[in-house]
Amino acid sequence: MKRTKIAGIGYYVPERVVKNDDLSKVMDTSDEWVQERTGIQERRYGRKHEETTSTMAAEATRIACERAGIAPEDIDFIIFATLSPDYYFPGCGVLVQRELGITHKEVGALDVRNQCSGFLYALSIGDQFIRTGTYKNILVVGSEMHSMGLDFSTRGRNVTVIFGDGAGAAILQPTEEPGRGILSTKLHADGTYAEKLAFINPGCHGGYHFKKLGEEVDFGYPSTDTYGEIFLTPRMMQEGQYYPNMEGQFVFKMAVQKFPEVIREALDEAGLQASDIGMLIPHQANLRISQFVQKRLGLRDDQVWNNIQHYGNTTAASVPIALCEAWEAGKIKNGDLVCLAAFGSGFTWASALIRW
Ligand code: UT7
Repeated sequence: MKRTKIAGIGYYVPERVVKNDDLSKVMDTSDEWVQERTGIQERRYGRKHEETTSTMAAEATRIACERAGIAPEDIDFIIFATLSPDYYFPGCGVLVQRELGITHKEVGALDVRNQCSGFLYALSIGDQFIRTGTYKNILVVGSEMHSMGLDFSTRGRNVTVIFGDGAGAAILQPTEEPGRGILSTKLHADGTYAEKLAFINPGCHGGYHFKKLGEEVDFGYPSTDTYGEIFLTPRMMQEGQYYPNMEGQFVFKMAVQKFPEVIREALDEAGLQASDIGMLIPHQANLRISQFVQKRLGLRDDQVWNNIQHYGNTTAASVPIALCEAWEAGKIKNGDLVCLAAFGSGFTWASALIRW
């Protein structure tokens, strides 16, 4: 039976390192608070106006292509996961296509908006296309340029200290090797808590969801029957309502429940145990969350890869960056069972089991 293998992976992080102490110069925070609550020591920020979500994705893709032994022109479908796109529309899929110089082939390009689990959702879509024989070289890429959209005042500190920039890419190809490749992907969502971790303005909601939830939020909508100003009002600008929001403790509690659940679901279906996992790559949301998941599953330190200490949370890029780093460090070998897992805004969560 034909399965999907990851034929090449690559990642790119910008050069500029931003330490916790750099952030404490512009907002009321401290290295001690950030490290104690999240494990983060530093993160990377892209070069403003020169690097973007799609240019970083192109850097990661070139490396992934080289390792897969293909040229970017050989890519026959693009799946791009991000929550921090260059443009509101069109999506980053077409921009990375242009950046890679493969517009002459007019291959399809799809954008996935599933935040922290975006890469896993994208991987799952690519897996279906490979197994059905539709495409032979699919680019799955997750990239984020968070630094351009964060609140650097003390008001935004609970979110801003966590996020960093970067990109990770994988080239998917078919394989006939018995037992090898993506064994399963598990995708889940629960929109009940959509606003618990969200970037809601500008948007066309016009306050609808908040009214329905019984919450009074003043977005500064004009009282007159006009349309255009509803998307982005002066109040949204004045009050900085266009930044991400997170109820951290609520998200944390859900994350530590859903990560083990979705990993166990995949293991149970495959008739495998947590002890069979060669490497678990959890989405890098918080070192404390990863440690909790590790403990819950009874995994040793050498079975889990964490790099949030150096990159912060890079949302859709975090899983492929960590996967690539672990592979580059020689911690993932042919035949190993690799488990990817993510949880985040939506809420959406997912896992993938791969026989490398
Ligand atoms: O990737 C998507 C999924 N995201 C996650 O899974 C994130 C899940 N949540 C978390 O990781 C944690 O909730 C955070 C790291 C975001 C926050 O840690 P916490 O231990 O839950 O802190 P908290 O939000 O309950 O805030 C505790 C205190 C508050 O002060 P008071 O009210 O106790 O005086 C905050 O105002 O810490 C304060 N605080 C900060 N202090 C210094 C919040 N952010 C900061 C900060 N520096 N950056």
